[in-house]
Amino acid sequence: MDIPSKPVALPHTTGRLVVAITGASGAPYAIRFLEEASRYYREIYVMLSDQALQVISLETDRAVNARSLSADTLLGHPCPALRFLDKKDYFSPPASGSFRHDGMVIVPCSMGTAGRIANGISDDLVTRAADVCLKERRKLILVPRETPWNLIHLRNMTLLAEAGATILPAAPGFYHKPQTISDLVDHVVGRILQQLGIEQTLVPQWQFTEE
Ligand SMILES: Cc1cc2nc3c(=O)[nH]c(=O)nc-3n(C[C@H](O)[C@H](O)[C@H](O)COP(=O)(O)O)c2cc1C
Repeated sequence: MDIPSKPVALPHTTGRLVVAITGASGAPYAIRFLEEASRYYREIYVMLSDQALQVISLETDRAVNARSLSADTLLGHPCPALRFLDKKDYFSPPASGSFRHDGMVIVPCSMGTAGRIANGISDDLVTRAADVCLKERRKLILVPRETPWNLIHLRNMTLLAEAGATILPAAPGFYHKPQTISDLVDHVVGRILQQLGIEQTLVPQWQFTEE
């Protein structure tokens, strides 16, 4: 048997990210996140729930549907990093733990999707890919948007955190004195990027103020 003389060095990052958009309010978070993430990742695998398409059409001026889905229709411009996946296609790479990537972000994340992941119900590619992240101990970031939360929501979030997910509510801060909706959106997007280990520039780090 050949014994390697030294360990094989794994690259620090795969340059791949998985992103799911679900039917919670907050389409601008998803669109802005994809735009920013594409500056850092070479391949971004994107999947949308049926309800996400409805909510995006309502909340933005983008008329998206499953057939017309592309970077052009969603972001308003081409973006070669984005690869759109059919949410019912379990043959897609993120459905398998053997496909290596740097993590998954669900933005925004509905309480329905969060509940299904928390309870191991992998009934589409979104929930299956999230389940794979948890079992492979990969980064899984959920950006839930709902208010108020009932006891079921709270318990599901606890389950998810216990299983290793990061819960990053779509709750922008005001300590940077936001002037526009974009500033609020950027605050959440910046915090997601930070969780992925990216030196983002959207949200300034809280520092000591100069005397
Ligand atoms: C306009 C609109 C806004 C919604 N906002 C939220 C929300 O903020 N949070 C949430 O959990 N569900 C929200 N829902 C309900 C979800 O879309 C619904 O529970 C759906 O089944 C979620 O499906 P999905 O998880 O497969 O995307 C909203 C629905 C609509 C039509």
